[in-house]
Amino acid sequence: MTRILVTGATGTVGTHLVRELRSRGADFRTARGSLAYDLDGIDRVYVCAADGPRKVAHETALIEAAAEAGVERIVKLSALHADPASPLPAHRWHGEIEAALRKSRVPSVVLRPAFFMTNLLMVAEGVARTGLLHAPTAGRRVAMIDVRDVAEVAAIALLDEESAGHTYDLTGPKAITFADVATAMADATARPVRSVDLTEEQARPRFESAGLPGWLAMQLAGVFGLIRAGAFERVTGTVEAVTGHPARDIGEFAREHAAAFTR
Ligand SMILES: NC(=O)c1ccc[n+]([C@@H]2O[C@H](COP(=O)([O-])OP(=O)(O)OC[C@H]3O[C@@H](n4cnc5c(N)ncnc54)[C@H](OP(=O)(O)O)[C@@H]3O)[C@@H](O)[C@H]2O)c1
Repeated sequence: MTRILVTGATGTVGTHLVRELRSRGADFRTARGSLAYDLDGIDRVYVCAADGPRKVAHETALIEAAAEAGVERIVKLSALHADPASPLPAHRWHGEIEAALRKSRVPSVVLRPAFFMTNLLMVAEGVARTGLLHAPTAGRRVAMIDVRDVAEVAAIALLDEESAGHTYDLTGPKAITFADVATAMADATARPVRSVDLTEEQARPRFESAGLPGWLAMQLAGVFGLIRAGAFERVTGTVEAVTGHPARDIGEFAREHAAAFTR
């Protein structure tokens, strides 16, 4: 039986990936910590270290170790707009790691998801308190994705033969505005929720004063810049093509997390 190593198993996607692999009866183990992994007897690896300035070093070290150990497939969690020339830190890191993966020649599957619906949980407390959803989107649409769909595609990419060699751009089922998100939150919580579109200037101090590391504040501001430029409006049918079911929509996500948007 194929043996799988899952890194980032405690992460947003990793938690669901572990459940998926378990439900599919896969033979897998999880790595304890980004640097503490044992590749002995491992055939396939899911690569996901925490974002941050050490990400490229951590993931490329794992890719090199996997190549050395003769691992037959790597599934790398990347991001839409990954590019070594990107001004956005995480997109640049993913671009650099994808390049290292190609260089390693280990057969791979690259997952490039769009904006995670779980990002909305970062503002859940404010929505619960004020009934307002603030975001600098200029009314543009985002084909946001439920991380459970990312995890399901990751599990299939680790287990099935058809996925090998693919780069999957993963989105939700529809491109939606933050006004649509507010409506979904209102329906799920039976409370009024209204979206308030901020200008870039109004949003900047919010990112800067949120107590986030500098690279993360820059990443978030950059992602909303891409949203305002329409760069997250494209819908791909990849989740459905790979999993056989439509991607989960914002209504389902909002109902599942209704408590977070209410407390
Ligand atoms: N958010 C989005 O919209 C979006 C969209 C596309 C792509 N992505 C990409 O998705 C990846 C993240 O995936 P994920 O959300 O499943 O992983 P994650 O939640 O960031 O966790 C990955 C691993 O990082 C470590 N970790 C988590 N939180 C940490 C913290 N606060 N401090 C230090 N280490 C921490 C944990 O590893 P240990 O248990 O080993 O310490 C965890 O298993 C990123 O590379 C991101 O760029 C995100």
